[in-house]
Amino acid sequence: MADPEQSNADQLAFWNGVGGRTWVVRQSHTDTTLAPASEALLAFAAPRAGERVLDVGCGCGATTLDFARAVGPTGRVAALDISAPMLAEGKARAEAARLANVDWREADAATAALDEFDLLVSAFGVMFFGDPVAAFTRMRSAASPSARMAFVCWRPLGENPWLSTPMQAVAAHLPPRPKADPEAPGMFAFADPQRVSRILTAARWAPPRLEKLDLNIDIAAGLGLDEAVIQLTKIGAINSWLRDQPTDVVSAAVASVREALAPHVDGSSVRLPAAMWLVSSAGA
Ligand SMILES: C[S@@+](CC[C@H](N)C(=O)[O-])C[C@H]1O[C@@H](n2cnc3c(N)ncnc32)[C@H](O)[C@@H]1O
Repeated sequence: MADPEQSNADQLAFWNGVGGRTWVVRQSHTDTTLAPASEALLAFAAPRAGERVLDVGCGCGATTLDFARAVGPTGRVAALDISAPMLAEGKARAEAARLANVDWREADAATAALDEFDLLVSAFGVMFFGDPVAAFTRMRSAASPSARMAFVCWRPLGENPWLSTPMQAVAAHLPPRPKADPEAPGMFAFADPQRVSRILTAARWAPPRLEKLDLNIDIAAGLGLDEAVIQLTKIGAINSWLRDQPTDVVSAAVASVREALAPHVDGSSVRLPAAMWLVSSAGA
């Protein structure tokens, strides 16, 4: 297993470097693609007016803004992230939307001094901790006695053709890659429900409830096949694979991604199945 401190340092560098900058540039597209997941999370978490929400790994703030509206002016959202560029984007969006009930905080959820909260939420932001038990234990210690938690995370890659399909297309152009550690920090680190349960209960949260969320997501965000190809190759796992490859390899891989996605074009959308967990728990 990777050294947790090294993992945390790698995450900090990534989300403040090329990773965070790319997310800011692609924010509008990503938010449109993932809007159905954000809506599902909002309904699942059922925030109440006046509640104090902690949004972990808030990124550019899509979820944060949803929850800030839902808890209203008597409630607050602490929007926590390690990425300065993504937080700056979120803050600008909140100001444009005249939402004043958000505290944007550049801090690591695993070590930050947290204010008391009633509801911990996260959209794809809790899978990157080097030591997840320590991180959730810390968050538990700031939770109010009746606090609850609701987050959305990915199920395994094999259940997510929106990503596995273009990944297979790219893999054909690259040397074989070492098998990834399924528990290493990263987008699929919470894909195994038993692991999620183990982590949360070890961190003194109540045994979680996991609900499947299956969506046909539009990876083109209504902008057509070319934009779908750009989105998949400019952000996330495929972008990481291609980053240091020679130009001719990148061109061939991008052409293969286009070919693999073409059968899924539906007007200006490109729809493929996406599989997520909605996870809820309460303070134990
Ligand atoms: C996949 S992005 C999701 C962003 C956002 N919630 C969304 O749905 O668009 C993961 C986010 O988690 C943040 N993150 C990673 N490790 C973190 C940590 N230890 N504490 C707080 N945020 C973290 C990253 O900076 C990034 O913004």
